[in-house]
Amino acid sequence: MTDTVACDVRNRIAWVRFNRPEKRNCMSPTLNRRMREVLDELEFRDDVGVLVLTGEGSAWSAGMDLKEYFRETEAKGLGAVRQSQREAYGWWQRLRWYQKPTIAMVNGWCFGGGYGPLFACDLAFAAEEATFGLSEINWGILPGGGATKVAVELMGFRNAMYHAMMGENIDGAKAAEWGLVNEALPLARLKDRVIEVATVLLEKNPVALKATKDAVRRVGEMTYDNAEDYLVRAQEAANSFDNEGRKEGIRQFIDDKTYKPGLGAYELNMQGD
Ligand code: COA
Repeated sequence: MTDTVACDVRNRIAWVRFNRPEKRNCMSPTLNRRMREVLDELEFRDDVGVLVLTGEGSAWSAGMDLKEYFRETEAKGLGAVRQSQREAYGWWQRLRWYQKPTIAMVNGWCFGGGYGPLFACDLAFAAEEATFGLSEINWGILPGGGATKVAVELMGFRNAMYHAMMGENIDGAKAAEWGLVNEALPLARLKDRVIEVATVLLEKNPVALKATKDAVRRVGEMTYDNAEDYLVRAQEAANSFDNEGRKEGIRQFIDDKTYKPGLGAYELNMQGD
């Protein structure tokens, strides 16, 4: 049986790929279970600093597998449906709070359920040639599995409503304009740009990166005062894992004058630990 998820690690970047190109990388229960295992295997490896999620072939992911995820599990009854949902939502949730920074590299089709893992990645870069769509309305359901929430969260009310009701696709450039991804660029340059971003992330303090990405996700739902309090406590908690990093960052700027935080990151491997 071919593996539904492909993965290799190069220069501390884990390239995780939806690997059902002949099915446009749609997410079956098998793929969802495998993805969870792969994420588990990679999360705390020392040789992995950044995870990139991309797709083999012409698709990033054509969303949920209409046959295996919907039709076949529904035929088995409610228990099977709930289990399949847990397996899919489970790995997306895992990815939302992943230890390492994550980047979605959207190389092609990205539909419906694909918006779950798209949102789960901290950053997202798309090919201009990629196609995004909430196609659910076209086959008679609402955009579930968090897809509606993702659209509202990232695109704003009017764009989300239009996108969800019309079932009309957008390209990578429009996805960037609407905030679904950070940037869109020609497919031929996509991977180089993602490597460039990943390389910058690899140079940052990893404890601070995890605290930062969690903070950005958390504060959106908080009042200002709650956010202020959360951020104080999050920094104090981060200090308990990496008390020296911040001091080293201050030292290299104030004493050594070897870098300026406004212009780049301090040298990680000069820490005394
Ligand atoms: N679920 C199940 N099977 C899917 C699928 C999905 N979401 N997306 C693609 N496939 C299958 C097709 O049935 C086809 O299978 P077959 O070779 O056994 O006939 C194979 O993948 C290739 O798909 P095809 O439609 O021929 O590819 P294409 O490149 O011409 O078109 C898409 C690509 C993505 C436009 C088209 O496959 C599509 O509309 N997929 C459904 C997208 C969708 O609505 N997703 C939302 C789910 S929540």
